[in-house]
Amino acid sequence: MSPRTATIGAARDRPCTLVVCRGCCCGNPRKHPGTDHQWQLDRLRAAAADSGGRLAVRTTDCLGPCDQANVIVVQPSAAGRRGGGHATWIGWAKDDDCTDDILGWAAAGGPGLAEPPATLELQFIRPPGEARKRARGRGRGRARR
Ligand code: FES
Repeated sequence: MSPRTATIGAARDRPCTLVVCRGCCCGNPRKHPGTDHQWQLDRLRAAAADSGGRLAVRTTDCLGPCDQANVIVVQPSAAGRRGGGHATWIGWAKDDDCTDDILGWAAAGGPGLAEPPATLELQFIRPPGEARKRARGRGRGRARR
């Protein structure tokens, strides 16, 4: 298999990915003391570990819309992208209900493959231009673990 073939194969199988902002405001207990941010991240990572490769989670530095923290971007899987799905930005993702909705949507296939829960749609936000590029992967060098 050539390296090019391997890359295409990897892209073809790309899972739905949750890009979890953990910058200056998102995940910061001093700014948002009513949320257990680590518990949220642990839940998301556990779901990814149990997904059989259908869900991935990564964290990133500030995506831009700090006034809407916590921000999570749901990137479509490769199949979801082929189905017309696009990166979907969610704001105010701070409680268990929102985390449940995100995980449920991702388990059902995510953008392009399944309709989001109506309650989650109320939290969709418009991505800022620069942050949109970073969430698509151009800022991977700044991604945090
Ligand atoms: S820290 Fe998340 S948007 Fe700024």
